[in-house]
Amino acid sequence: MNLLEKFDLLKEHAAKKIPHAESMDDLKAFEIHFLGRKGELATLMKGMAEAKSKDRPKLGKAANEVKTFITEHLDAKRLALLQASFADLIAAERADVTEPGIQPPQGSIHIVQKAIEEITEIFERAGFNRVRHPEVEWDWYTFEALNMPSDHPARDEWETFFMDAPISPKWGKMLLTPHATSGTARTLVHQKPPIRSINISKTYRRQVDVTHLPMFHQFDGLFLDEHVSVTNLLGIFDYFVKNFFGEDRKVRLRPFHFRFTEPSFELDVSCGICHGTGELDGGAKCRTCKRGWVELGGAGMLHPNVLKAAKIDPKKYTGLAFGFGIERTYMMKEGLQLDDIRLLYKNDLRFLTQF
Ligand code: DAH
Repeated sequence: MNLLEKFDLLKEHAAKKIPHAESMDDLKAFEIHFLGRKGELATLMKGMAEAKSKDRPKLGKAANEVKTFITEHLDAKRLALLQASFADLIAAERADVTEPGIQPPQGSIHIVQKAIEEITEIFERAGFNRVRHPEVEWDWYTFEALNMPSDHPARDEWETFFMDAPISPKWGKMLLTPHATSGTARTLVHQKPPIRSINISKTYRRQVDVTHLPMFHQFDGLFLDEHVSVTNLLGIFDYFVKNFFGEDRKVRLRPFHFRFTEPSFELDVSCGICHGTGELDGGAKCRTCKRGWVELGGAGMLHPNVLKAAKIDPKKYTGLAFGFGIERTYMMKEGLQLDDIRLLYKNDLRFLTQF
């Protein structure tokens, strides 16, 4: 059999074999078998060395044809295999649009955020703007501007995280603000009267146990204008309590002492459990409150020194401020008695999804 006949036989052989490939791997194996460096075509071409030189161009052309022929068969089979695999895939993945969907778990707003939104909304209706200030604050806004000079013992009440940072000659040390009243000091410096604002922020103190968190939230309200008085304070407090806790709640101001207000008060709300009586239905003492009242926060008329620090004339303007803890306030509203307040921030869904 001459070489040309052998080429024809190879073509015939390949055309018969290739359609039997069942996978891309089979095809690769055929390609190597027929066209590889040590494949059948290569083996036949070795015979060309013995051919007469005048026959060589013809043989070379024929060898190329064999190569093209086999390659085309391989390509055709490759395409057929691909199409078949797509068809399988489409059949397997056909979606049944009538099938009921999988309900993704539904998230909800954290109770503290919910309280913030509710409180903001109540004060906005009374014309207060929500303002935001840095939580990493200067000593000056936190204490100094609030009538607490650097060596004043009143500072001890705020167990402060001071930052390991350079000290500013003008503003003092840097700290994580321990109360939202630092924001009120900022508002006084940076806004022109009349002002009605509410600053809600995270606050930080070196305390952690079942009733205390190292990070919690406070809101601090400010009303500054000519002729603002304690009557306004009582009115605003009453408005807030009726809107947040309910129409049946009563309020009272109890004299207290803060360095940045004069006079100063603690703000009390009538207890929602015993309805301000201090006694439960059977006559037992109410354990939620003190004689019918629960304590919400602090307030007062801004001290003249605080206004002076902000370059506001205390003869012309008077202002009131009030500050509450968000977590406490919200727990009172819901009648929530947590054994451990840290539960609020544990991200335990069994707790959080109840709200
Ligand atoms: N900042 C005070 C605290 O953290 C609470 C407070 C008292 C805020 C009196 C006020 C205020 O605005 O007038 O305990």
